[in-house]
Amino acid sequence: MQTIFVLNGPNLNLLGMREPEIYGSDTLDDIAHTLHEQAKGLGVEIDMRQTNHEGVLVDWLHEAREVGAKAVLLNAGAYTHTSIALLDAIKAIGVPVIEVHLSDPSKREEFRHISYVGMGAVDEVKGLGPRSYSVALEKAAAL
Ligand code: DQA
Repeated sequence: MQTIFVLNGPNLNLLGMREPEIYGSDTLDDIAHTLHEQAKGLGVEIDMRQTNHEGVLVDWLHEAREVGAKAVLLNAGAYTHTSIALLDAIKAIGVPVIEVHLSDPSKREEFRHISYVGMGAVDEVKGLGPRSYSVALEKAAAL
């Protein structure tokens, strides 16, 4: 079975209590549960992880290449807007990356309007709350 990595960056471990008016009340575990169920129906497997550390995200992107992952869903949190290292990793691995966000950063503060992840990603899903992940998983499974 093909594996899709679902990688989550800084502060996403606090989903559920973190600015619920922006990110909603679902926890990352709730989202993982939904995605695992959805993945069964799509005939894929997901490997979902979260870290607060930029370099760990880089390592996991490399790992996606090493294990031959079908795709990566990447919510890099604030590193989306700052990390050339993530962009370089995305370009290096040859695995399609779909950018995911719960909120729509383009409708928020100006510093969120730039996305280095988006410069390397094949697609993006944003602004749908937890459903952003589900829509992205569908897209990834169809790649
Ligand atoms: C986010 C949007 C980012 O701008 C922010 O830094 C996050 C979460 C989202 O999912 O909406 O941490 O990636």
